[in-house]
Amino acid sequence: MRIDIITIFPKMFAPVLNESIMLRAQDKGKVKFHIHDLRDYTSDKHRKVDDRPFGGGSGMLMQPEPIFKAVEHIKSKIKGKKSKVILLCPQGEKLTQKIAKNISKEKHIILICGHYEGVDERVREKLVDEEISIGDYVLTGGELAAMVLVDSVVRLLPGVLGDKNSLNFESFEGNLLEHPHYTRPANFRKMSVPEVLLSGDHKKIEAWRNKEALKRTRARRPDLLKSNVRKEN
Ligand code: ADE
Repeated sequence: MRIDIITIFPKMFAPVLNESIMLRAQDKGKVKFHIHDLRDYTSDKHRKVDDRPFGGGSGMLMQPEPIFKAVEHIKSKIKGKKSKVILLCPQGEKLTQKIAKNISKEKHIILICGHYEGVDERVREKLVDEEISIGDYVLTGGELAAMVLVDSVVRLLPGVLGDKNSLNFESFEGNLLEHPHYTRPANFRKMSVPEVLLSGDHKKIEAWRNKEALKRTRARRPDLLKSNVRKEN
């Protein structure tokens, strides 16, 4: 997968994308990141990317020209391949595991990190295929949201995570939160691990985990239980 990111803060990305699983995914050739400084697509000496809104009002808007130029430049580089252009902004559709999964099937995505009071509407109308928000709160810009989206998508690419089961049995798969987990020691400060997990009886353990996952989901996220089918290996 190729991921192009258009931003006014290009330096924000390396510390996140060049660590841990995102770094491993690049090393394994599963993903390639291209970070573009939006100001490189301006034509004035101040490298200006924003201006005041027509009709008045507070705040500044991102101008269409640099964004159009950046997207056109990127598309010209990947000749013929289909690209999905995604704008990160608080008005977008809220990111879910299902959306991450769908995006992980794309070969090429272009992420535009919104800023200021937003972007000129013509960017939405003509350039953007999808708008995504990472939650009902307002960030200072779309960069952190782009990183959240990238992380959630790249870990789903085949071969990025070692253990296939770690994808099958994680929160939101089958619309359930995860059951509780325990590791060594079996007794820690007078708190002991549930007996069943030490029993070696895999059928019983599986039943316990399913029950606990359901209990936890019912208590914390009953909204997820509307369609509840747990995936088997
Ligand atoms: N930009 C500002 N806030 C945002 C959010 N919640 N999601 C995506 N992009 C944003």
